[in-house]
Order: sequence, then C-alpha cells, then structure tokens
Amino acid sequence: MADTTLFTPLRLGSLSLPNRVIMAPLTRARTPDSVPGKLQQAYYGQRAGAGLIISEATNISPTARGYVYTPGIWTDAQEAGWQQVVEAVHAKGGRIALQLWHVGRVSHEMVQPDGQPPVAPSALKGEGAECFVEFEDGSAGRHPTSTPRALETDEIPGIVEDYRQAAVRAKRAGFDMVEVHAANAYLLNQFLATGTNQRTDRYGGSVENRARFPLEVVDAVAEVFGPDRVGIRLTPFIEIFGLSDDEPEAMAFYLAEQLGRRGLAYLHFNEPNWAGGDVTFPEGFREQMRERFGGSLIYCGHYDAERAQQRLEENTADAIAFGRPFIANPDLPERLRLGASLNEPDQGTFYGGGEQGYTDYPFLDNGYDHRA
Ligand SMILES: Cc1cc2nc3c(=O)[nH]c(=O)nc-3n(C[C@H](O)[C@H](O)[C@H](O)COP(=O)(O)O)c2cc1C
Repeated sequence: MADTTLFTPLRLGSLSLPNRVIMAPLTRARTPDSVPGKLQQAYYGQRAGAGLIISEATNISPTARGYVYTPGIWTDAQEAGWQQVVEAVHAKGGRIALQLWHVGRVSHEMVQPDGQPPVAPSALKGEGAECFVEFEDGSAGRHPTSTPRALETDEIPGIVEDYRQAAVRAKRAGFDMVEVHAANAYLLNQFLATGTNQRTDRYGGSVENRARFPLEVVDAVAEVFGPDRVGIRLTPFIEIFGLSDDEPEAMAFYLAEQLGRRGLAYLHFNEPNWAGGDVTFPEGFREQMRERFGGSLIYCGHYDAERAQQRLEENTADAIAFGRPFIANPDLPERLRLGASLNEPDQGTFYGGGEQGYTDYPFLDNGYDHRA
C-alpha cells in the first residue's frame, strides 16, 4: 500500500478505476420535470475524469421524494434521460454509479402523491428538518417537513421492490454500478438509527432487526447488478434532520460484516462532521471497518489531496470522494495530480437554476479544451 496514491488504479468490486478520486453524490436540483437532460449530460460529461462518478441522489418512486427538481428513476422518460447521461460519461472515458434514494420522513405532503404524509419507520417528525417544496405561486424553497406515518410491516416488501425496479432501470440505462443511499438521515438511515426507529416488529429493536430492511434492499439491488457492482453510503455518528442514534458503532460493525459476507463492492462513509460540528469517528473505527469488511472503503468529507493521501497511506481508505471541490472543479483529478489551484464553489448556486454554477466552472487553462 505504501506506493498507493490517488492516481493508482483501483479494482472496485468488478470495476476498474483509473484513479481513486471519486466524485461524491451531489444533489443539484436542476431537473424540474425529474428527467435528466442535456444540462446533466454536459455536467457529468465534464467530470468524466473521476475514478468513479456517483450520481446525485435519485428518487426510486414518487413517495421517495422530499425535494422538488431532483431526478427520478421510476419512469421510462427518466430512464431514457439517464441513459443519455451515462452515454455522455462513457463517451469521455468515465464510469458512473446511480445513487438510489428514498427520503423517508424528510418530506412534506406538498411533495408527496395525493398530498399524503411521508412514510418512515415510526411516526416521528424530524426536529428542525427541512425539505424543498414548490409553493402555489410557482416559487420553490425550503420548508419544514411533515409528521410522517409509520410504514406497516406488510408495506416494506413493496418498497424493497421499488428499489429493485429502480436497479433494473439503472442497469438498462447502462450505469456501471449503483450506490444504496443509507446515509444522511434519509429512509434507510432512519431504520438503522435508534432515535428514528421505534418499531416493535421484525424491522425494529435489535441491531439485527433495524438493519433488516436496508439489507433486504441491498440484496434486491445486488440480485440485479451483482454484489460486486453495488456500494452503500453510510453516516454513522451523524446527527442531522433530528436523527439521533444510541448505537452507531455497533450498527456499523454489524453492517460491515454482513455486507462483507455478501461481497459488496464498497462501503462509502461520509465523515460525521461533513456538514459542520466537531463529531468525528471514534478511535480505531476506520481500522475496524478494514478488519470487518473485505471490499473497498471510501471516505468523504473535507478532504484535500494531502489528507486523502494520508488515509491511503495509513491503509484505512482505498479511495476518497470529493463533493464541493467537484462542484467547482470539473477537472479535479487533474488539478490534484498537478498540485494546481482549485476554483472555489459558489454556495448560492448549489441547488436549482441552470448552467450558472453548474457547467460554467473553468477547466485548467493548460492549452487543452477538455470540453471538446
Ligand atoms: C450541494 C450538495 C449536495 C449534496 N447531495 C448529496 C446527495 O445527493 N447524496 C449524498 O449522499 N450526499 C450529498 N451531499 C454530501 C456530499 O456527497 C459530501 O458527502 C459532502 O459534501 C462532504 O464532502 P466535501 O467536503 O468534499 O464536500 C451533498 C453535499 C452538497 C454540498
């Protein structure tokens, strides 16, 4: 491992990556009709130099939504839109995974089909949680989430099936991999955490029971793609959108072992302090993940080239994902390789809008037009 750098190739499951600079999943809310189009083809195509692009979180069904203008993967039009994005990335020599998303309780009746309440493991409102809605006057903005209703036990297989169908469409669209979004206080994370899951059926209570639904989702998706083409994103220790958890470490250990046994391609951890705060992984956590999980480990959150390199050298990570730096630097891997300066991301254009702050960040001016 001593000679490994961000620019050493990596075998991620059954996919070969030319480098270890991963583009993190980034919601950009630029698909008003939930169908990716030319703008997304340009944006993702520009970033094809990443070892792997992980797409923005993509809704698996109409009830999975909590944010307007985010894309879906449950209709033919959405699938066809994504297929063209995948083609644009492949044409530039890149690889792309689709991140499969269900927000659970981080939603509002205004975004849900027929004005129904959002669904969650338990009928507990996320304190301080906000989603993104369209108001009657056509404007859009943040809005406190609704109180969800608890899913009935016999409804859960239907949601597992939604994930499976989403994976079927992702495969047909040509994605190289899928990433199950079990992070950031959304539905699967709500099942994993003690504060949001107070169920008394086989999906609540013990670590094994709370992990059951997320593992059923992984199994369903892995049947479609093969486990060596599936990754999962986790955020143990994160406390956002009112989510709290008394047993994050025990759950992470259990999941690492279970997912390792299944031969999953990778675990992708978002650092607990990625959105602020000073919580970090406990001492020895990263080493435990290495010991308990046989696949690749990806970490994300406030990394620069130096800190990324440190993780590779200490052998706790196989690749590093970059979020905000990839928003502002379409040619991030090349910039990191050359030690070049980075463009600063403009927070005002993170969500919504068009080309501005999306496809207009400059490439390195080194005489070669990467957009050609
Ligand atoms: C604008 C924006 C959108 C994001 N959207 C997603 C998303 O769709 N799915 C996800 O898992 N994480 C999402 N994240 C978290 C990022 O993937 C990443 O974990 C975080 O930005 C930390 O990495 P960084 O410090 O390199 O930016 C988002 C972050 C930002 C700033």
